[in-house]
Amino acid sequence: MTYALSVSMPLDIRPVLRAVIMDQHVRWHGIHGAAHWGRVLENGLRLAAQNGADPVIVTLFSVLHDSRRVNDHWDPGHGRRGAELATNLRGDLITLADADFDRLYHACEYHTSGDTEGDLTVQTCWDADRLDLGRVGIWPDPRKLCTADAKHKPMIAWALERSQQGLVPEFVTTEWNGILVDEHC
Ligand SMILES: [Fe+2]
Ligand SMILES: [Fe+2]
Repeated sequence: MTYALSVSMPLDIRPVLRAVIMDQHVRWHGIHGAAHWGRVLENGLRLAAQNGADPVIVTLFSVLHDSRRVNDHWDPGHGRRGAELATNLRGDLITLADADFDRLYHACEYHTSGDTEGDLTVQTCWDADRLDLGRVGIWPDPRKLCTADAKHKPMIAWALERSQQGLVPEFVTTEWNGILVDEHC
């Protein structure tokens, strides 16, 4: 099932995705793959439109935070590896001021830490990811979400429904899958 993006993209993320899929471990169709990244992106952009978080950082987080998993199970350190990929791409495909890059790096590195405190954009990144837990049978717990807008019951219900149904955002099908290198997935 696919559906259209209801908010506008703050940047063309496809060049970063091309770099992401160069890694042989990337499981594009996995539980932590492109459909998850797309839902995280839309969760994050919806929250950012409400709370003023930086949509560029949210977008970069969505495709980088799980980009260096080596499996779909227990993989400690994958957040830091995603953050290190961001470092490798900085200046070429990622152009952020130091403070903004630090926020992106921190959001990626600690997205599995369970932390709820921090910069608003970092919190929004974490919430966007946690709101997609329904895909693995977990209901997002408001106590483990960071921002007021993410804890809002209608937001949780909306994200939960589409995660449980495995919705694939239309832009994943129409824009992202076209850059997929089959042998890497
Ligand atoms: Fe992760
Ligand atoms: Fe994730």
